[in-house]
Amino acid sequence: MARRKKIYEGKAKILYEGPEPGTIVQYFKDDATAFNAEKKDVIEGKGVLNNRLSEFFMTGLNQIGVPTHFIRRLNMREQLVRNCEIIPLEVIVRNYAAGSMSKRLGIAEGTQLPRPIVEYCYKDDSLGDPLVTEEHIAAFGWAGQQDMDDILSLALRVNDFLSGVMLAVGIRLVDFKIEIGRIYDGDFQRLVVADEISPDSCRLWDIETGQKLDKDVFRRDLGNLTDAYSEVARRLGVMPKSAVAKPTLIN
Ligand code: TMP
Repeated sequence: MARRKKIYEGKAKILYEGPEPGTIVQYFKDDATAFNAEKKDVIEGKGVLNNRLSEFFMTGLNQIGVPTHFIRRLNMREQLVRNCEIIPLEVIVRNYAAGSMSKRLGIAEGTQLPRPIVEYCYKDDSLGDPLVTEEHIAAFGWAGQQDMDDILSLALRVNDFLSGVMLAVGIRLVDFKIEIGRIYDGDFQRLVVADEISPDSCRLWDIETGQKLDKDVFRRDLGNLTDAYSEVARRLGVMPKSAVAKPTLIN
């Protein structure tokens, strides 16, 4: 078989040309980075877990009518997705204060917010993905007014869905980040949830104990990242048992 053409390599994923026009193969690496790649490591098994978890969330969203780029999972580390033009924004939804919002506004981590708060960051690694307002987005033409209305509605629907799914397995969805893509169907364009939804891009806390089950485990050196992600996968019934079983030490 001919070697696939690599289209793009990011910090956690590689994109290859897909088998049909308009498709892309998204490969999940084991690489973990934080603080704009100042901190890096290879976490064995992370890619496999995120591929499965993102499949689970994207499939669920598609089923309730929230459009995503996801088509199907291909294997342990790859999924087939619709090719789309990524809007250069990180769309963050917060239900509880944490991370950069806590720092910026001096609100203790874990404080429940009066309502979900949506923030936008401009996707540019060289600038460290700075927070921007809708004024910047409109003035610089990153997205139009209709796009912004659609993005807000997608973000809040994803929040409702993910919060519910997580709550059902005893996990609090503190916040998350999504990316939005444009798909052109003839003369029409529509927006879809793109990239990935995984514990790399969410904050997930156990409701009872407050234990962190997301990438903060890596960012803040709180323990084993694959154990945390495996726990999320196990609770959601996502991974076959054998794939999440920890290696057993003999003797
Ligand atoms: P923050 O509190 O660091 O701004 O992060 C908000 C949410 O966005 C959190 O769930 C983690 C996620 N996130 C990403 O997915 N990618 C990033 O580069 C950053 C900084 C945060």
